[in-house]
Amino acid sequence: MSKEMKQGSVLIMGSINTDLVARSPHLPRPGETISGHEFSQISGGKGANQAVAAARIGGRVAMAGCVGGDANGALRLAGLEAEGIDCSAVETDPSVPTGVAIVTVADDGQNTIVVVPGSNGQVTPEMVKRHEAVIKAADVVVCQLETPWDSVYATLVTARRFGKLTVLNPAPATGPLPPEWLPLIDYLVPNEVEAAILAGLPVESQSGARRAAKELQREGARNVIVTLGSQGAYLLPEAGGEGTHYPAPKVSAVDTTAAGDTFIGVFAAQLASRQPIEAAISLAQRAAAISVTRAGAQPSIPTRQEVDSAS
Ligand code: RIB
Repeated sequence: MSKEMKQGSVLIMGSINTDLVARSPHLPRPGETISGHEFSQISGGKGANQAVAAARIGGRVAMAGCVGGDANGALRLAGLEAEGIDCSAVETDPSVPTGVAIVTVADDGQNTIVVVPGSNGQVTPEMVKRHEAVIKAADVVVCQLETPWDSVYATLVTARRFGKLTVLNPAPATGPLPPEWLPLIDYLVPNEVEAAILAGLPVESQSGARRAAKELQREGARNVIVTLGSQGAYLLPEAGGEGTHYPAPKVSAVDTTAAGDTFIGVFAAQLASRQPIEAAISLAQRAAAISVTRAGAQPSIPTRQEVDSAS
């Protein structure tokens, strides 16, 4: 079977943003005004970033979401289509602006992000119902929390009804997930901050990730993968046990924006292609490691060829 024929398909239901990015020597403290040295407008949004990552690694990808009727909406949509992503389930709502994210990136690569949802807030359970066909056509369905929670729940329920594998990236996390969500999620993939919020436990290390993942499983989660940035990733499989730590490739970080999204998109595309979990995590880590060496969200996400030639 050719490589093309083995590719599974991924449906990403989620946010589409324009990132307004300022680079500055450090992140401003509350009340502090600082001078930045660069400004750019970049394609972003956790959902769209994950879709681009899945497409660039070679997956067949569809996106469901909503843009506004403004120039940003048209630009974001055209960008996704240029990646070969099926956007038939991306609606345009002319009554609202397209989502934006105000991103500050410090010279050490760390960032802060404030998201103003705009059109992402127009994604409803009714919209999910209108686009059931793209969920039905996918092998793996991925959501985040930048669209309204009732639309995420509707997507997970529909995906489960069609027997799809599901991945939830609980970002941004604001508190524990509703307990009825947990059995609908095959892979719960928080970063360390989100894992701490979901589990109500500190996560600063591998052992903290293990404790949080075990707590989430005690509450009903299935497979849990905690991404730990430069400290790697920790997988606690559904079967339990002590789990596995995957060290991250060592790189010099320029900008960590969308590193988690790169991990999720690549991981989902590998799951859809029936790759073993260990291989899926390893490829996702290698792609994410490249993304942190480059500036911006979608511009930083590598292609399959770039990942392979860096290995
Ligand atoms: O995960 C990074 C993304 O978060 C940015 O692209 C921004 O749009 C926010 O959604």
